[in-house]
Amino acid sequence: MIRIAFFDTKTYDRDSFERLESQDVKFKFFETKLSEDTAELAKGFDGVCVFVNDDVNENVIAKLYEYNVKFIVLRCAGYNNVDVKAAFGKIHIFRVPAYSPYAVAEHTMALLLTSVRRIHKAYIRSRDFNFSLNGLTGFDLHGKTIGVIGTGKIGRVFIDICKGFGMKILAYDPFPMDIEGVKFTDLDEIFRKSDIISLHCPLTDDTRHIIGFDSLPKLKKGVMILNTSRGGLIDAEALLQGIKERIIGGACLDVYEEEADIFFTDNSGHILGDDVLARLISMPNVIVTSHQAFLTHDALDNIAKTTLQNILDFAAGKDNDNEVCYHCENFDKCKSEKKKKCF
Ligand code: NAI
Repeated sequence: MIRIAFFDTKTYDRDSFERLESQDVKFKFFETKLSEDTAELAKGFDGVCVFVNDDVNENVIAKLYEYNVKFIVLRCAGYNNVDVKAAFGKIHIFRVPAYSPYAVAEHTMALLLTSVRRIHKAYIRSRDFNFSLNGLTGFDLHGKTIGVIGTGKIGRVFIDICKGFGMKILAYDPFPMDIEGVKFTDLDEIFRKSDIISLHCPLTDDTRHIIGFDSLPKLKKGVMILNTSRGGLIDAEALLQGIKERIIGGACLDVYEEEADIFFTDNSGHILGDDVLARLISMPNVIVTSHQAFLTHDALDNIAKTTLQNILDFAAGKDNDNEVCYHCENFDKCKSEKKKKCF
């Protein structure tokens, strides 16, 4: 039997994974996040299952290895929170590269529409029988220019949605492709011309603070920034300054650089210690959701099924394209073309 310790488990994780348990695979759910302090809980388990805010750093990897944990399965696509290099030769890592690009892309558009048509404000007003329209004036998306940074699975679905709205689409990706109606260009043109910028690239050394103090002077005045990718793509202090100086006209954030100890939990009875986030949330033109873009029944179902398959493939010693290979610069390409294994 394979035993897996789940960290940072929420009710919806438990619901979608419990029904996949069998005589061969048993899950133990911990609410706490995986960190150096909690790694000991993994003793006696073959694998651990983690999410976006578990901190799987070098020291955690060393402890897991000492406890004879053989694999880490991420129930998400991004793996920037795992020290893949430290795990090399010790612990195998698997992720769920795609579970529903539609969930994330649709949430991005939901945030954009909510913001530009002031739906969040109208909802609160009408519940109080306030039917005034003052201050609710929005703008048409039709004809506006959107800059999409990162045209992978989610970016491309989002582009399709934007096309339906009749928007002009600019895109930047280190691996540009032919997409009808989309002009691939450099970041400078995206910054200069976009009325709305949407981030759909992974968090890497190259993309950290892609929206930051350096980019502020390059942005079109009044631009809206959408981030449903990873918090570290935006320097939140620069965003705040950009909004205060009226360079940035609005922001929709599903992710935040310092979200790890804040998001996914009910903090309503506490005083928020993060002044930048508190100030951003207080802005009338900022909408924050707490890393919710993935959260659809369809996506949760796909996450659970792919994670289970990753576990079963590992146990059976089968090749699995979802293994994260630290050796390959372009992980997807390496897997498909060379069938290389990490170790
Ligand atoms: P993907 O791997 O299919 O696409 C990422 C794209 O970004 C690729 O085309 C890649 O070439 C491009 N890219 C790499 N470096 C870049 C750079 N320096 N500048 C611009 N583009 C760059 O990934 P997918 O599935 O589209 O996901 C995108 C991101 O969305 C993930 O990395 C993850 O961080 C985030 N995400 C957020 C979720 C949420 O609930 N908010 C859920 C799932 C993913």
